[in-house]
Amino acid sequence: MSGLLSGARTAPNPLRQLTIDQLRQRTSLKWQEYPDDVLPLWVAEMDAPLAEPVALAITDAVARGDTGYPAGTAYPQALAEFARQRWGWDGLAVERTALVPDVMHGVVEALRLVTEAGDAVVVNCPVYPPFYEFVAHAGRRIVEAPLGADLRIDLGALEDAFRRARAGGRPAAYLLCSPHNPTGVVHSTAELTAVAGLAQQYGVRVVADEIHAPVVAGGARFVPYLSVPGAENGLSLMSASKGWNLAGLRGGLLVAGPAAAGDLVRVPFGVSVSTSHLGVIAHTAAFRDGGEWLDALLTGLDENRRLLTALLAEHLPAIRYQPGQATYLAWLDCRALGLGDDPATGFLDRGRVALNSGLAFGTGGVGHVRLNLATAPELITEAVRRMTSAVG
Ligand SMILES: Cc1ncc(COP(=O)(O)O)c(C=O)c1O
Repeated sequence: MSGLLSGARTAPNPLRQLTIDQLRQRTSLKWQEYPDDVLPLWVAEMDAPLAEPVALAITDAVARGDTGYPAGTAYPQALAEFARQRWGWDGLAVERTALVPDVMHGVVEALRLVTEAGDAVVVNCPVYPPFYEFVAHAGRRIVEAPLGADLRIDLGALEDAFRRARAGGRPAAYLLCSPHNPTGVVHSTAELTAVAGLAQQYGVRVVADEIHAPVVAGGARFVPYLSVPGAENGLSLMSASKGWNLAGLRGGLLVAGPAAAGDLVRVPFGVSVSTSHLGVIAHTAAFRDGGEWLDALLTGLDENRRLLTALLAEHLPAIRYQPGQATYLAWLDCRALGLGDDPATGFLDRGRVALNSGLAFGTGGVGHVRLNLATAPELITEAVRRMTSAVG
């Protein structure tokens, strides 16, 4: 982690390494879903090569034939050290972690620990669409607490949602997205402390999805939910999946605050052991040795955010874009563009550029699209050219 400690940027920008021809050879979802004349800037995969320490760890494991079940605590140890160095947080206790197959299955496990079928789960819409899908599939019901006009958590709306969620005295959970997908907002210590206070007041259990935590711009600071006062009975899901593009090498960690340790022990051994051993090896290497690569990525993402801001101002000034400080996603308000409730359809049909439709993100998604910034600057320029042609 020399890059992390010295602040020096030695690694090249990972987003400038691959050509579009190389990317089109990929067999993963981002590059397979649409025909070749469509530029795909949708699902959260990155157009970057695998970080070298991760690639080495995987190929070494394959060479050993080390493809069995996962074991040991190397993953939480690497994450605890990363949390100490990056976030100044030394509260991640290895003994209060459990391996989970991936973050969304970890979210479901966490919700199972703190709620029963039919209970309410509060979310801040617009939000990552699988929150709706997985919560419904787990037999829980969604209660929406819309974000404010500034795209930050609206504490009044949250309190109202907590009240509704707890009406009748049933258990309830709050599925917090931190940092927030799709807006890229990094929640502050003050906001998270207020959240913890409300959760205590209303008896709502907080499950924080912190998958995007490594992808926070240099000028901002990620605050782990479990680090704020009052969050002792919270649960968090962490992973290297977004930071290092490891969706194909699945894995995640369920992390419990001190007062949730008794809940965590109820995660069945069979769930933890269902985590991919190769995934665990990859995630461990990413957190332990991938700091330099991540720094180069974060610099590249900063450039891309600035580029997109400039391109939209020049070519599509009717689109409103408030760049977040985290994630590699851009949430674009296209309501003034005249493309109707689902602008992604017009962009795809006429511009041949694939973005995520805002409609799937719940209340507040109408007229919006989500654009994936984890690509080469040239492809962002090309995407805006195509979007512009769809409007003209
Ligand atoms: C907020 C959030 N949670 C979870 C996931 C998916 O995580 P996993 O593939 O580990 O289930 C994503 C993927 O983009 C995400 O943005």
